[in-house]
Amino acid sequence: MASPDTISAAPLADDIHVSVAGLTMAYDDFVVQRELDFKVSHGEIFIIMGGSGCGKSTLLRHLIGLKPPRAGHVFFDGQDLWEAPSGERHRMLLKMGILYQSGALWSAMTLAENIALTLSAHTKLSPREIAELVSLKLALVGLAGFEDFYPAEISGGMQKRAALARAVALDPEILFFDEPSAGLDPISARRLDDLILHLSQSLGCTAIIVTHDLASILEIGTNSIFLDTDAKTIIAQGPPRDLLRHTDHPTVRNFLSRGQLPDNGPINPAAIPVPPIAPLTEETDPA
Ligand SMILES: Nc1ncnc2c1ncn2[C@@H]1O[C@H](COP(=O)(O)OP(=O)(O)OP(=O)(O)O)[C@@H](O)[C@H]1O
Ligand SMILES: [Mg+2]
Repeated sequence: MASPDTISAAPLADDIHVSVAGLTMAYDDFVVQRELDFKVSHGEIFIIMGGSGCGKSTLLRHLIGLKPPRAGHVFFDGQDLWEAPSGERHRMLLKMGILYQSGALWSAMTLAENIALTLSAHTKLSPREIAELVSLKLALVGLAGFEDFYPAEISGGMQKRAALARAVALDPEILFFDEPSAGLDPISARRLDDLILHLSQSLGCTAIIVTHDLASILEIGTNSIFLDTDAKTIIAQGPPRDLLRHTDHPTVRNFLSRGQLPDNGPINPAAIPVPPIAPLTEETDPA
């Protein structure tokens, strides 16, 4: 098998948060991706890229404990997720925060109730402590004062931020996002990126993000892999901006340049339009 186009320095071993080794993923007889090998360091914003249907969401499912590997291993801080006893695996899963594509807030519950549900299910905090923590988490995502709103009463961008507040309710060590900016206008998408970046940094989290959004990939990604549908494995890995400049793989070049740039020769990232990030305010949400 050809080795993927790798552009990065190897991280220090004790800095590695997630390690995926020889992972093959399949639904019955249909192999989605095979022999995936990559590492994610602590604090990284790691992007999973690839065309539609290549297996990005499936990979997330293997990382968050929803689907067991056909072969291979997923390690968190050196501990094998799928080989761990169920109690230990449960503890590992509690360190994860997840933001699904749809946001997936309960529509019949207020924002406060949505977040409180996670806290009351997994902590022994009193109702008063939970209420305080809920307000703190909402403030973290720029939604102070929106406790009693229902999801349908706020914009799409605000719903994503509320879902993010719920994802960080238990102070996760690692956050997973599947297409976080899907369905948002470009400005709201940039503000969500900005929030993901600041939240990950302030909480000291690692973030693993599935996205097609080129601006996000280039702006916030510190490292990445590119999954290919035809090769059924990783065809490139490294910091996205470095891949954009240096990769020779036509599929990856095409993806990162949206087919706007020549098939060979150096690419200037400045040629990719990346809109400026609007400041985050509570009063004006454009979404
Ligand atoms: N539950 C399932 N059973 C069988 N096949 C599935 C199932 N879920 C996904 N697949 C198939 O596995 C492949 C990978 O799907 P996946 O949803 O992981 O792709 P993706 O990269 O996330 O795509 P997209 O960018 O469109 O979200 C696809 O061919 C899909 O049809
Ligand atoms: Mg998907």
